[in-house]
Amino acid sequence: MKSIKILQKSVFILAIAAAFTACKSSTDSEEKEAKSQTEDSSEMGLKDYYEDYFPMGVAVAPNSVKGKSAELIKKEYNSITPENVMKMGPIHPEKDKFYWEDADLLAEFAKENNLKMRGHALVWHQQTGGWIFKNENGGKVSKEELLKRMKNHIDSVVPRYSDIIYAWDVVNEAVADDSTKVYRESEWLEIAGKDFLVKAFEYAREADPNVKLFYNDYNAIIPEKRDRIIELLKYLQQNNAPIDGVGIQAHWSIHSPSEEELREALDLYSELGLEIQITELDVSLYPWEKERRELKEGESDEFTPELEQKQIEAYDMFFRVFRDYKDVITGVTFWNISDRYSWLDTYPVAGRKNYPLLFDENFERKKAYEKVVEFETQPETKTP
Ligand code: GLA
Repeated sequence: MKSIKILQKSVFILAIAAAFTACKSSTDSEEKEAKSQTEDSSEMGLKDYYEDYFPMGVAVAPNSVKGKSAELIKKEYNSITPENVMKMGPIHPEKDKFYWEDADLLAEFAKENNLKMRGHALVWHQQTGGWIFKNENGGKVSKEELLKRMKNHIDSVVPRYSDIIYAWDVVNEAVADDSTKVYRESEWLEIAGKDFLVKAFEYAREADPNVKLFYNDYNAIIPEKRDRIIELLKYLQQNNAPIDGVGIQAHWSIHSPSEEELREALDLYSELGLEIQITELDVSLYPWEKERRELKEGESDEFTPELEQKQIEAYDMFFRVFRDYKDVITGVTFWNISDRYSWLDTYPVAGRKNYPLLFDENFERKKAYEKVVEFETQPETKTP
């Protein structure tokens, strides 16, 4: 008798629990439906579609955080990178002179709008301002003096933005273009040897114990350059440089990289135990060229439907792969906002318009955008 009562009681409790669960899940699904109805509207931006994957960022200049472009940034992205204003030349133009205004403006914009911020770039062979390598007589500084100046630069810039910058490109592009060498022949290398690489990471870590530290480079998917980048990364790791990740610039095109090359490179970089960020994504309509040149007679820069279709397919593939690697990719950043302005309009060919981004010249979403956000928003388990 007692056991029947207990059974009845348990059945009753189970029934109530089931009713409660049914009721709750119907409330949940109603809520979900209501949410997706609002989200389905044009309210959603790239950052919302990719909420379960990685932050979506964009490189910006001080004049892009105003007006229409500021609205686009806020709607579509949740991270920004300063395109130029935190590079050594602009922010530290002379030995004892800093220019903070533009960098501060971008940092404020990020804070006010709840955006993440990547710092770019502490040590690079370009846009240094030149003074850092020169002594008072116009000759080369000693290794000791160069490292001292580098430390002073890092100690001045990094803590100033440690309340907003979560990741820094510590060293940019230190691998040579010449495939017979690993290290680029820069003044950094000439004066300080490979030590400058390790020191840059050590100084950055001392300046901010919590920020993520990245090595950043281009052509990072092409196997021969990829392998040399890996050699540099291993050198850093073997010498206990506090590196957290590798930045793949991703100045790509409708011609390359292939899906196979991309997956292989992501596998190899992640085997080093590093985070991966796509830091400067754009998809050019033209094959990679390093040397600057003029537009050739009769050369067209029309954005034809055929080129548009190829670009849609390229973007589709790149983002499909990024999603598959969501466990190791911790950020994707586009280099510039819309086709109204891209550095590729003048590089490497002066006067050849390019259309490398997801928004057109009127800040409207291109068809490639629709493709990039056309997926099941629930991430699948990664099986790279
Ligand atoms: C490299 C640098 C960037 C930028 C681009 C060109 O990729 O890392 O800072 O200068 O070139 O715009």
